[in-house]
Amino acid sequence: MSQTSKDFYNLSAPFRETGCILAIESSCDETSAAICRDGKILSNIIAGQKVHEQYGGVVPELASRAHIQNIIPVVDAAIKKAGCNISDIDAIAFTQSPGLIGSLLIGSQFAKSLALSLNKPLIAVHHMQAHVLANLIDDPKPSFPFLCLTVSGGHTQIVLCESPTKMKVIGETIDDAAGEAFDKTAKLLGLPYPGGPLIDKYAKDGDPNRFQFPEPQIPGLDFSFSGLKTSILYFLQNAGKSHIYKEQFLATEDEKNKFIKENLNDLCASVQQRIISILLNKLKKASIETGIKDICIAGGVSANSGLRKALEESGKKNKWNTFIPAFEYCTDNAGMIAITAYYKFLEGQFSDLTVSASARAEW
Ligand code: KG4
Ligand code: ZN
Repeated sequence: MSQTSKDFYNLSAPFRETGCILAIESSCDETSAAICRDGKILSNIIAGQKVHEQYGGVVPELASRAHIQNIIPVVDAAIKKAGCNISDIDAIAFTQSPGLIGSLLIGSQFAKSLALSLNKPLIAVHHMQAHVLANLIDDPKPSFPFLCLTVSGGHTQIVLCESPTKMKVIGETIDDAAGEAFDKTAKLLGLPYPGGPLIDKYAKDGDPNRFQFPEPQIPGLDFSFSGLKTSILYFLQNAGKSHIYKEQFLATEDEKNKFIKENLNDLCASVQQRIISILLNKLKKASIETGIKDICIAGGVSANSGLRKALEESGKKNKWNTFIPAFEYCTDNAGMIAITAYYKFLEGQFSDLTVSASARAEW
């Protein structure tokens, strides 16, 4: 590409022509397909998997089986909703990594088979980069370079995005992800999986300053959430009387459950507030260190209403331009895979049929 990325990615310019891209996402427990024509998302169909709820987390084998059942109807629905035909598809994109290998294999094999049978180009997409680029789906869009806090069930990262195909991770969690902190807290509170949305819901009627949980002191732009989880565990086992580990906890099982029941809203609000303050303090540090003021969030946890509100408030205070994807593009979805594929198409970044799914991903 001879143009500089600044000119080439003038996001206020009209979309460029790529034709119709069919994108498939199957990295975890959502089967999703989207159609993007010339940079515009025409459809984004997402099928969730209820089967995991009873197990308190995603069961990889069950996820793979559900993807097999869902993938054809989901792709079919995406094509129909976009008002096109299979013969209108000009390229096929899929999530290559990272994710659950069995789940990724269903989407990648389907995409490769379809590309082969239609004789169309194939585009392999990095799931975490796609979360970042979900911010380029709707207007207004951030200008390059921008920072993105990507917070999901498996990742917590601050990404410096120089162009749609040039990004680097400048901070990340050294243990649990933010989504895991939400989900594990929910489990301790006796709430079903995935607990993040439920904590969000109960927090709305709670006092965020009622209980104080510790903020970890991690150097640089990295995060840690495992200490917070342990502190919540001890706090509940001591029925709110202490955060400290005791060989003999101060409460019986019944007292602990009574404490949770009577204080559920305040517990959710206080934990949520601490997770948000950990995230936003590091984001602020990243903005100061890089001088970048276009700030985005992405990933499943960016659906959290407290985080969305706190980002807007921080934006006003720190003179940031803030960007948050629409809800349907926060949690796992093929729309974000499609927009990433659109930019890769413009740069001619196609894969051949030897490309394979990978549980872990390089940036
Ligand atoms: O990005 P995502 O859909 O899947 C991964 O790639 O991990 O993120 C899922 C995570 C889960 O941990 C879920 O609890 C969390 O996002 N999540 C939320 C909310 N909605 C989803 N966490 C807090 N508040 C929410 N409203
Ligand atoms: Zn994700």
